[in-house]
Amino acid sequence: MTKLFIANWKSNKTVATAEEWLKAFDNSKIPAEAEVVIAPSFSLLLAVSAQLKSPLKLGAQDVSLFPMGSYTGAVNAQQLVDQKVEYVIVGHSERRRYFHETHQDVANKLQQAMLNGLKPILCLDDEYIEAQAAALESTDLPNLVVAYEPVEAIGSGHNAPVDQVQLVSQKIKLAFGDVPVIYGGSVDEQNVHEYLLVSDGVLVGTASLDPVEFAKVVAAAHPKK
Ligand code: PGA
Repeated sequence: MTKLFIANWKSNKTVATAEEWLKAFDNSKIPAEAEVVIAPSFSLLLAVSAQLKSPLKLGAQDVSLFPMGSYTGAVNAQQLVDQKVEYVIVGHSERRRYFHETHQDVANKLQQAMLNGLKPILCLDDEYIEAQAAALESTDLPNLVVAYEPVEAIGSGHNAPVDQVQLVSQKIKLAFGDVPVIYGGSVDEQNVHEYLLVSDGVLVGTASLDPVEFAKVVAAAHPKK
């Protein structure tokens, strides 16, 4: 089964360092079982889109909750599609925490993403699974990928126990239906194998910033002999 690997670069890199990353990342080593998505900042999309080689896919870290129009500073879903973006991360805990995104904002972003044919990765923590599900239209649920991201595991080096990921995935599937569930939070080349046994992929922040390290994470998609 295909596993999803999202490289969430967050607010890191310049055009020059993003291009260096792409040159250094060895595409030929990507296992056939992996779908690998690079999610850079908006300002890097054009450069990354121009340099990205198959089978890598392009993702964005956010999308406007509004369509094309008079919304100063916003980047809308149609503009992302125009840059060949296929996936979009929505409702990351850093967006909720530092930019005060509400469940309804996240629902509106998901709707814009889906209307324009983007594949949304909806980030959730345990305590607001039901509240976020309640804010969504039931028609938005198919095509959704959910990323379980416990806030204490993000960027901390304290990755969540695998049995916790399993339990919360079941809770997510109860609330959202049989959606793919991926895990994010201090995933690295050492621990990725255990998460791939219980999930449909991983969302990787810190360990995605270095191309050699990220290639080792992705290599874990190879089925064990
Ligand atoms: P991390 O980030 O891998 O650095 O913990 C994950 C995320 O925030 O998606």
